[in-house]
Amino acid sequence: VPAERLSVDDWQREAAAVLDEGTLGYLEGGAGDERALRETMAAFARIRFLPRMLGGFAEPSLATTVIGTRISLPVIVAPVGHQRLFHPDGEQAVARAAATAGTVMCVSTMANTSVEDIAIEAPGADLWYQLYPRIDRSHRRELLQRAEDSGCTAIVLTVDVQSLGRRERDLRTGFRLAPSMPMPNLHREDEHPGTLGEIASVLEPALSWDDLDELRSWTQLPLLVKGILDPRDAVLAADHGCAGVIVSNHGGRQLEGTVAPIDALPRIAEAVGDRLELYLDSGVRRGVDVLAALALGARAVLLGRAAMYGLAVDGEAGVVAVLELLRTELRNAMHLAGVASATDVPGDIIWR
Ligand SMILES: Cc1cc2nc3c(=O)[nH]c(=O)nc-3n(C[C@H](O)[C@H](O)[C@H](O)COP(=O)(O)O)c2cc1C
Repeated sequence: VPAERLSVDDWQREAAAVLDEGTLGYLEGGAGDERALRETMAAFARIRFLPRMLGGFAEPSLATTVIGTRISLPVIVAPVGHQRLFHPDGEQAVARAAATAGTVMCVSTMANTSVEDIAIEAPGADLWYQLYPRIDRSHRRELLQRAEDSGCTAIVLTVDVQSLGRRERDLRTGFRLAPSMPMPNLHREDEHPGTLGEIASVLEPALSWDDLDELRSWTQLPLLVKGILDPRDAVLAADHGCAGVIVSNHGGRQLEGTVAPIDALPRIAEAVGDRLELYLDSGVRRGVDVLAALALGARAVLLGRAAMYGLAVDGEAGVVAVLELLRTELRNAMHLAGVASATDVPGDIIWR
């Protein structure tokens, strides 16, 4: 008899029961004392809705577009590295699940499966590609080309990993990637995984807007910047021709003690207006979290850990189930809040 899985927290508990200590620490952990991680969740718990009544609609519409791609719910699967750690089917399972749920998967540079193989094994999946630029600039260009050739429709440049955050759970467990966990997007053939610190040591530590401009000049694909919290950086992203910004603190895994992304979002929305598309991630566990993000200026959210709980527990079907759970919760929240469409969520449903 399958356990009742009524919430993402239920999936989290089951995932915790099936993963080994090192993998679980890697999935769940944040930097330092995990203040940023706790604050990120707490900020969602502080949201108060002011619902509207008598809207006269029976079925809210959850569909929207993200950088021109139509998705059936405003929830995208975030780039998460090393997905074979959580389930042997890894990235292919997540890509197929995203396609089944009618949304986009963002493939990580740290994937255990090459972007080419993901595209082949999940035909019809809408893929974005997340880039961690290596110090070696020829590799950046090569990766952009590979992503483009594999049919990815957007590039997500993650900019908050200048250094790896100090994730003490990983340091305590001595977490390292086994040689059986290859990273064919990041690594050349003679390179092998190790600790997260060793892996991160090939990444560009001095990434700048000049690097971003160069990346843009190398690809026709729209570029999103992931890991922005200050409105000034969001304005710069628009000035530098980016198509989108993902407001994120990397799930509390990088700088300890950051503001919660959901709290940073309104000022960013005010600063950039319609100049680019805004997204949010970190701490999304509920349909109401998605609704809050949309009300405060995001077009859609990205789901990191929650999708991985589904993967760990039940592979592809588990990821589908978590996405469907969020769809059910969001549909219910929109109906009860009087919000008819995910493309037009009024800011004043949030009590301030
Ligand atoms: C296990 C794990 C691995 C991650 N790997 C990457 C990555 O390779 N690239 C990246 O841009 N972000 C990565 N992230 C961050 C996610 O894309 C996302 O910002 C974060 O998970 C959102 O917070 P949430 O887990 O609370 O949903 C990772 C997050 C986790 C939990």
